[in-house]
Amino acid sequence: MRIADVVETTAPPRRARLGPFILVLALGVAFGIGTVVRAAGSGQGDRRGGAPPASAGASVERGRYLTHEVAMCVQCHSPRDGSGRIIEDQEFRGAPMPLRSPYAGAAFALRAPDLRELASHSEDAVVRLLETGIGRDGNRPQLPMPPFRMNHEDAQSIAMYLRSLP
Ligand code: HEC
Repeated sequence: MRIADVVETTAPPRRARLGPFILVLALGVAFGIGTVVRAAGSGQGDRRGGAPPASAGASVERGRYLTHEVAMCVQCHSPRDGSGRIIEDQEFRGAPMPLRSPYAGAAFALRAPDLRELASHSEDAVVRLLETGIGRDGNRPQLPMPPFRMNHEDAQSIAMYLRSLP
């Protein structure tokens, strides 16, 4: 019998030695995935307006998210100070449009109306506008108001959020 044969038969098989290592690795992966899933579920991001709320029914919180972070209503419908910053406690109070139409012959509205006022008097009209693009007078609002086609949940969330403002 050669020495090499002895070493071969007495050394533990390779798989047995790897066993504990694989177990530790598997536990580590499982723990890692668990941590990521929990972090995602808690919905805590470092974004200014908080993480987007899950879309389970209309909510004021979702309305805030859509008007500030997605559809940008706040950018056109809010008055600004001398350096162009939106005046925070005046958000959605209506504002002049600082733009002229870039298209020959196409009208541009000169003012974006007060949405707090509008939503408090005619919530349904706001919802209809956001779902169909049809304004209070039965026509489409002039540009640059975008022709939104939202689902009911999103339109309702925005109307609820605007109504919730003082
Ligand atoms: C790019 C600028 C801009 C953005 C973005 C914008 N709007 Fe407007 N919006 C306007 C202007 C300008 C008007 C006035 C249109 C007119 O007088 O015909 C208007 C009109 C409206 C009206 C009145 C429509 C009617 O019935 O007469 C509502 C309600 C409204 N916007 C809601 C919103 C909401 C909610 C959002 C976001 C989801 C939004 N707007 C985003 C510019 C904007």
